Amino acid sequence: MRRKTMLAVILFSAALIVACKKSSTNPSFTPDCTGAAKSFSRDVLPVFQSVCSTCHSNFSSYSKIYADRSAIRSRIVDGSMPQNSSASTTQLNNVVCWIDNGAPNN
Ligand code: HEC
Repeated sequence: MRRKTMLAVILFSAALIVACKKSSTNPSFTPDCTGAAKSFSRDVLPVFQSVCSTCHSNFSSYSKIYADRSAIRSRIVDGSMPQNSSASTTQLNNVVCWIDNGAPNN
């Protein structure tokens, strides 16, 4: 095999490995929903604005967040979101517990 071909094969294999790696950046998250019920405007929207909006400009209003709530919940719990970013336990609890409480517009 020619050297260049060999190099191409190696680079291609490396790219495949990187592409297949799960993009999860956080360990899975177990919510703790004890305590006061969460408010959308006070506890939830600010989390989307400070943590998620750099990548998800669509999560900007109640109706858009509400529509995607089940995907949002599972992505937080499985640890795949927030990708390449961090959120505090409080912030993650605020979002997940608000969804579990019926995702009210409060
Ligand atoms: C650094 C960029 C980045 C940040 C910050 C981020 N995401 Fe994502 N998110 C992505 C990318 C890229 C995808 C698509 C790739 C994938 O599905 O993993 C995605 C996909 C998703 C999806 C599945 C697709 C969809 O729109 O239904 C959800 C839900 C989601 N993100 C929720 C969140 C939430 C909630 C936060 C904040 C707590 C967040 N993300 C923060 C980059 C980000």
